Amino acid sequence: MIDNSIRTDLFSPTKLGEIELSNRIVMAPLTRGRTNEDGVQNELNATYYVQRVSAGLIISEATNISAQGRGYAMTPGIWTEDQVAGWKKVTDAIHVAGGKIVMQLWHVGRFSHVDLQPNREAPVAPSVIETDGNVFTNRGIERASIPRALGTNEIPYIIEQYRHAAECAKRAGFDGVEVHSANNYLLEQFLRDSTNHRTDQYGGSIENRARLILEVVDAVTHIWGGGRVGIRLSPVTTEIGNTPLDSNVMTTYSYLIQQLNKFKLAYLHFVEGTMGKNRDIPEGINLDALRSLFDGAYIGNNNYDLEMAISRRAEGKVDAIAFGRPFISNPDLVERLRYGIELVDANNDAYYGNGAKGYTDWLKANP
Ligand code: PHB
Repeated sequence: MIDNSIRTDLFSPTKLGEIELSNRIVMAPLTRGRTNEDGVQNELNATYYVQRVSAGLIISEATNISAQGRGYAMTPGIWTEDQVAGWKKVTDAIHVAGGKIVMQLWHVGRFSHVDLQPNREAPVAPSVIETDGNVFTNRGIERASIPRALGTNEIPYIIEQYRHAAECAKRAGFDGVEVHSANNYLLEQFLRDSTNHRTDQYGGSIENRARLILEVVDAVTHIWGGGRVGIRLSPVTTEIGNTPLDSNVMTTYSYLIQQLNKFKLAYLHFVEGTMGKNRDIPEGINLDALRSLFDGAYIGNNNYDLEMAISRRAEGKVDAIAFGRPFISNPDLVERLRYGIELVDANNDAYYGNGAKGYTDWLKANP
């Protein structure tokens, strides 16, 4: 039998900040839409994660930090005690099975719908800019509602939502948290000049547009320490909602990444290309150059296969690789990659939905 561990160190232990991994294959955050209406995880969710425990690190599906931060029905939350208790079932099971799991902290910003918001209020965003992006309500797929712009006096409340969620994630037994600052959700809406037209200290200059992200990271690292906090960025992704890029990607993200260095974070995690789609990088943008500005570890993600993972690792371009969709239909992805076992393709229909079908019923190659 082939053993790819003789030609790559992807299957060997490493450390991301203070988080020790048994290998460099990471399970990327994957929305699966299988909680109850209160965003509480259950035994089935624990089973799903434990099936994938051979990942060196599991990044949880994106988890709403507050009722206001929610944009998709049946996604988990981390602001109530029931949600903490639900997630504790997952983290305990992962730890018994010898794995590591961090929680991805999520506020969707403008990608929500009044049906999902407290008191049917408009979703919040840096500016009133409508999107044709879709969200998922209890009635099915719907166009996102027109957002309202956050007042400057509301920003401390946003930071408090992140702080509270980070504290809840700690009590829920996670090994760390990942700040979701990618895929054009709230934090990236603030960063990009295409979605932020504010004139207060959170809009205009690059320093102002990056301010909220840095204040959130500051709050979260006060709970966890930098060595257990990662951040996910997507400098060139137009997903979700066909959102335009920042007008100066290199300057904007360079500034942000250099500022992030002072927090000594566990890792930087990039969506390389367009989330879930291609790895095309527009002319004039160099993700490796952006990555090299970061002092800590780096997780690469988006449409990797084994050969690309091995060569990017051999070139020293990545410390770990996050695989997303392959983990849906290959719970034993690490073993399959290591021993050259063919991967099973997931059907899109299985991504979101109800119950065990397409969720916990994927087989391991060697049960
Ligand atoms: C999704 O639910 O489709 C989704 C959630 C979080 C992401 C990207 C996509 O970062």
